[in-house]
Order: sequence, then C-alpha cells, then structure tokens
Amino acid sequence: MHYIRFLKSPRLLLNSPPVLSAKVTVTTDLGESFLLTDIALFVELESEDGSNILGPGKGREYMWKGRSGMRSLEVSIPIPLSKSKGRGGGRMRMLVRPKEDKYNVDTLGILLTGNNNPNEDEGRVLAVRSMSLDNGQPAEGQNAGVGMAKRVLISGSKEIVVWEETGESIARHIWDAGLMLSSYIAAISPSNTPHPEYLHTLPELPTLGKILSLKDLNILELGAGCGIVGITLSKFLPSASQILLTDLPEASEILEHNLSPSILLPQNRTKITHQVLDWASPLQPNIKETDWDLIVVADCTYNPDVVPDLVSTLKSITQGNKRKHALILLAMKVRHESEMVFFDLMARNGFVIQEKAVLPLPVLAGEGEQIEIFGFMLRDAGD
Ligand SMILES: C[S@@+](CC[C@H](N)C(=O)[O-])C[C@H]1O[C@@H](n2cnc3c(N)ncnc32)[C@H](O)[C@@H]1O
Repeated sequence: MHYIRFLKSPRLLLNSPPVLSAKVTVTTDLGESFLLTDIALFVELESEDGSNILGPGKGREYMWKGRSGMRSLEVSIPIPLSKSKGRGGGRMRMLVRPKEDKYNVDTLGILLTGNNNPNEDEGRVLAVRSMSLDNGQPAEGQNAGVGMAKRVLISGSKEIVVWEETGESIARHIWDAGLMLSSYIAAISPSNTPHPEYLHTLPELPTLGKILSLKDLNILELGAGCGIVGITLSKFLPSASQILLTDLPEASEILEHNLSPSILLPQNRTKITHQVLDWASPLQPNIKETDWDLIVVADCTYNPDVVPDLVSTLKSITQGNKRKHALILLAMKVRHESEMVFFDLMARNGFVIQEKAVLPLPVLAGEGEQIEIFGFMLRDAGD
C-alpha cells in the first residue's frame, strides 16, 4: 500500500492567476520507501462539500516518476479569481489522487478484493486532501496544529474521515494494519447492509463476528494512533456502550481532532472517547474496572522493546474481566523476525490464538504483503 503525503502543505501564491502550490511524495506507511513505478497523479481543487471547484474532471495531471528515483513532486493548481478573494465564500482544499481508478482507494472494501497472488501491477495508492484554505489561510485544523492532511474512505453509506499529521510522527498517521483491520471490520459488521458482495470471499473470524453482533459492547483500543480502527467501529456499532481509544500523550491532539463532533458527525451515537494509556504505566482505574468485550490493537508489535509492556497491559486488562468472551483483536504486518517475541510472550501469559485471518495486501512495484488478524483469548476464559 502507498500513501500520497504532503511534504509541504498547499499555500497560496499570488501569481496571475493565483495558484495553490504544494510538495507531495508517495511512500509506504513507514515512509521508508518511495513508490518505485511511474503513475499519473491528478490534482483537483475541492470545495467544502467535496465537489470539484474547476468543474467535473478538471484539474492538473502530474507524472510521479518512481522509476527514475523520484522522491518528491511539486504540484500546483490555478484558483479561479472569484475564489481567491474574500473570506468565507472561497474555502477550498487540494486533493491529490492517482489519476487511474485502478490505483485509487475510494472505499474500504476495495482493499479486500486483492488477489492472493498479487503481481507488481497491483497495489493501490491512497489519495490525500489538504486542510481547507480560506483566502490563502488555513480555515480549519488550527487546534491540532498546522500540517494536517485528510483521508476519506467510504464504506457502504458511511464515510470514515481521519486526519493525519503531515510530518514523520509514528503515532499521528495511518498504518496498513489499521487500515486493513478497519476494512475487515466494516465488511463483516452486521450493520453494513446490504452485505458487500465480496463478503463470502473473506476469511472468517467467527468469534469476532459474534461479538460484533452483541449490543452494549465495551471496546478498548491500544495504540490507536489517529484512531482509524476505533472510528470505523463507532460508525458500524451504533449500539456499543463505549469505545475508548488510547495511546501515548503525543497522539492526544490528533485523536481529539478526529473525534470532535464536526468530524465524526452527529450520526454517531456511540460514546467514543480517548485517553492516554502508556503500556509502561499502571492501568488507570476506569480501564481496569471495566469489563471489556473487545480489545483492539493494530500495528503495535513492530518494536520488540515495548512488546513486554504491551503484553503485560493486555494481561492486566483481561485478568478479572467478567466478559468470558472477551477477545483481543490484533492486526499486524510482520516487518521483522524479532516481532515473533510477541507470540512467545502472549503464550507465556496464558493467551491462546482463538482465530486468525490473513488478508493479502498487494504493493505496487513491490513484493505483495499481508496483514494478519488474530483473535486472542485467555486460555481459561471460556471455562
Ligand atoms: C504504528 S502505530 C499504529 C497506529 C494505529 N493503530 C494504526 O494502525 O494506524 C503504533 C502506535 O502504538 C503507540 N505506542 C507505542 N508505544 C506505546 C506505549 N508504550 N504505550 C501506548 N502506546 C504506544 C504509538 O504511539 C502509535 O500510535
């Protein structure tokens, strides 16, 4: 999976005509490798309601020359004069997307239709939207600091909106495992009707399926990052009692922004909140005393140094939990052998793998990857 990112957020240049100018790159989630093939990118000016300001299909095409080792690309788009003057009426954002539909990720579902034997022509690239600008000034997002970018993913009738930071922070952008887990949850969710046609092609996680059909769920997410998985759960589980997203303090600002009513929209009746939870610190009473039905962990096992703290946090959360069906739902993309220490520690702490699903993740101009989803339970929990 590749992501278009802003290296420099769009700014207004008062040329004649005025233009919005930005610098983008196309990288993997870790940001360590750039897209190695050539693809056409398309730049559009979007209004607040998502329509193309320049008219249907109008925009500027640029070539990402990955084969020549491109690492960044300057893009710009002219602004109609009527939009470049006057506060309020001129709000707009820059959208940068792959030109061809076959590379686009408009919906979460499209990520689940990947081939089990992907070739190098497969793989997709996630579009990026800038903050909205009004008369050249940031018109939103000031609370979470400058340099934010918006990802929009559709699933059935729902729209998942997640803001990321444009820098290199680990916590403050979306990761492949979180994205794929969100896609899977959305696909199997009982409230996603009519059920997507590709549902029968997906590997099953029966315990997860059962839990998602229960009412009044208590759901806890560890290492939530920008919150994509928790936000997806909140969209598809309107009857959940609470969804609590946790992470280190550095993720608080972006989580606050992504859970704010203006972004999450009022259709969300589920109580979704966030709080700091550092795996190296003791559990706060509200977390320790709640009987959690589902504990979600996406892309958090990549650093073997913190895995012991993660596992002991999982143990403290599940010990004494009265919900016997409590499931730890963990998604990972194995990047290194050393990550296997997580499984040893889980087994030593009495956790067993209840179920597992593997989702193929084709990578454009690269070797296909996969996201593994595990359901862990405490060994004696079901007795
Ligand atoms: C790779 S990111 C994954 C973010 C998100 N789950 C996703 O899939 O998009 C790993 C997350 O684990 C969090 N994390 C790392 N060490 C932690 C710790 N000791 N306590 C709590 N969270 C931690 C990071 O802040 C980061 O948000």
